[in-house]
Amino acid sequence: MSVDEKMDCGRRRLLLATSAAGGAMGVAAAVPFVASLTPSERAKAAGAPVEADVSKLAPGEMMTVEWRGKPVWILRRTPEMLATLEKTDDLVTDPKSEQPMQPEYAQNEARSIKPEYLVVVGICTHLGCSPSEKFKTGAESGLGADWPGGFLCPCHGSTFDLAGRVYKSKPAPTNLEVPPHKYLTDATLLIGDDGTA
Ligand code: FES
Repeated sequence: MSVDEKMDCGRRRLLLATSAAGGAMGVAAAVPFVASLTPSERAKAAGAPVEADVSKLAPGEMMTVEWRGKPVWILRRTPEMLATLEKTDDLVTDPKSEQPMQPEYAQNEARSIKPEYLVVVGICTHLGCSPSEKFKTGAESGLGADWPGGFLCPCHGSTFDLAGRVYKSKPAPTNLEVPPHKYLTDATLLIGDDGTA
């Protein structure tokens, strides 16, 4: 998405938020905006599920799709990346994602339906900043010789492992959110609907 498109997207989200907060006046203001969207844009703005084709993701690569205006990360983890999770088990606050905000299929060490693919909302659970990927390991990462790869939130320093699990003694209270999702085929993910609603 180009910078202009992103700005346009941001303006649209702001319009939606403003109209939601503005009661009857807001609804009136939203009508021309909604009418200007294509049917698929209207569905997206309303929170419809979105499909993601993960077939082109190479091991170790991550893609981002937008769902309900939020970035959803899909990381294809290598066997080496998955092996780090055993080591970080003791360093994170909620290793099995037992806090109630997680779907059942996130309540395991890899926090995923298929261990190879991590699917999380890329928004810090502290105050909503956007964490950065820190996939380089060791000293090269700038996060210490023991860093096994993961994510760093630049705002207040919360760190997350390669399953989006927050490290102990960090400001973020919970792991990164796993959105509802399911596989339609081996290569197609549906984000926003896991069939339980
Ligand atoms: S918003 Fe991420 S650590 Fe505060």
